[in-house]
Amino acid sequence: MASLRLGDTAPNFDAQTTEGDINFHEWAGDNWVVLFSHPADFTPVCTTELGRAAALNGEFQKRGVKPICISVDSLEDHTEWCKDIGETQGTPMNFPIIADPEKTVANLYDMIHPNADNTATVRSVFIIDPNKKVRLTLTYPASCGRNFDEIIRVIDALQLSDEYNIATPVDWQDGDDVIIPPSVKNEDIAANYPKGHKEIKPYLRTTPAPNK
Ligand code: BEZ
Repeated sequence: MASLRLGDTAPNFDAQTTEGDINFHEWAGDNWVVLFSHPADFTPVCTTELGRAAALNGEFQKRGVKPICISVDSLEDHTEWCKDIGETQGTPMNFPIIADPEKTVANLYDMIHPNADNTATVRSVFIIDPNKKVRLTLTYPASCGRNFDEIIRVIDALQLSDEYNIATPVDWQDGDDVIIPPSVKNEDIAANYPKGHKEIKPYLRTTPAPNK
């Protein structure tokens, strides 16, 4: 499978998970999904990542997002390891981990990068929208834990730009000013951005957060 690109349909699959057997698209339903892989169970960085994702599950739910994780380990290992995550990270596991010992899903999503590791998944992230389109991909190496606040931030940015004709600037956080896309003509700004705008350059125009 070639790498998935933004806008591609997220491939469907059937899998065993720690919360029962699923068909991925049916499980996703009308929600957004964060599908992320980790290299292996019973490893330190992965333990902290899954604990953090579990602690943020309320934030995911508020945004209509379902998290789901995957590695090439067995269901038995996942189940045993979940106990360690709850014990050491302060939040019990509260979302499914896909067991993929045959590497079916890992190959479908191109999560094994042989020049990094021939057998284990790297730290991939796919943000998938309710239409099952891939909206963001990230790839981190095994040695580097991801920043889940950034994943929430990107979901906020994607959902805001789906609702309003805006883009978000560097380091944007929910509530900050946003950017009026260059495709919007100056004469159309007043009607479409009622909170006003600032023109810093003709191509760099900002407006207050439209959702606040
Ligand atoms: C970890 O999660 O700690 C880890 C996993 C695979 C390789 C290196 C670190």
